[in-house]
Amino acid sequence: MEKLTGLKKIKTAVFISGTGSNLKNIIKFSKLKKSPITINLIVSNTNLAKGLQYADQFKIKKKIFNLKNYNENEKNILTSLKKEKIKFICLAGYMKILSKKFIKKFDGKIINIHPSLLPKYKGLNTHSRAIKNKDKLAGCTVHYVTPKLDSGKIILQNKVKILARDDHTSLKKKVLKQEHKLYPAAIMKIFN
Ligand code: GRF
Repeated sequence: MEKLTGLKKIKTAVFISGTGSNLKNIIKFSKLKKSPITINLIVSNTNLAKGLQYADQFKIKKKIFNLKNYNENEKNILTSLKKEKIKFICLAGYMKILSKKFIKKFDGKIINIHPSLLPKYKGLNTHSRAIKNKDKLAGCTVHYVTPKLDSGKIILQNKVKILARDDHTSLKKKVLKQEHKLYPAAIMKIFN
């Protein structure tokens, strides 16, 4: 990843589909002096994403792309990213899979947060699967996005203990707390 020179911060887009707690956390981090990025665009595939509220709250541009035609949809996203001079993308609960072509255009410039200790539990329902398998540890991973789902190079991971009393809800809460520490740390690691 390119090194930071002087005061130039990297224009970043965050892609979401839901609550946006990671988005809010990344926005707050981006406002710190030490942050290598600024958040210039929020992209969602649905206007029902609660996280879109943070676009209004923090006065950041938002765009919703939900065309049924996949190619057209991605083309429109790329146009918007270009218009805003976006150089880096953070996926934060974005529930659409990006095409190979799209990823190639931002090669090595897209990262994602996943709620498991990858390579364990790619895909959905990570917490229930960890509990069902009686794992002792769960956690979260920030990784580069490649065409193969949840398989790109790992940047950082945080672990949490799974206790006997944990269920899906309590584990999700514990992991999310770690996600909020991990995402900024991963961004710092990439650009330093
Ligand atoms: C997080 O658990 C993240 O790891 C996963 O989707 C969830 C998004 O949560 N990819 P939020 O919308 O950031 O609150």
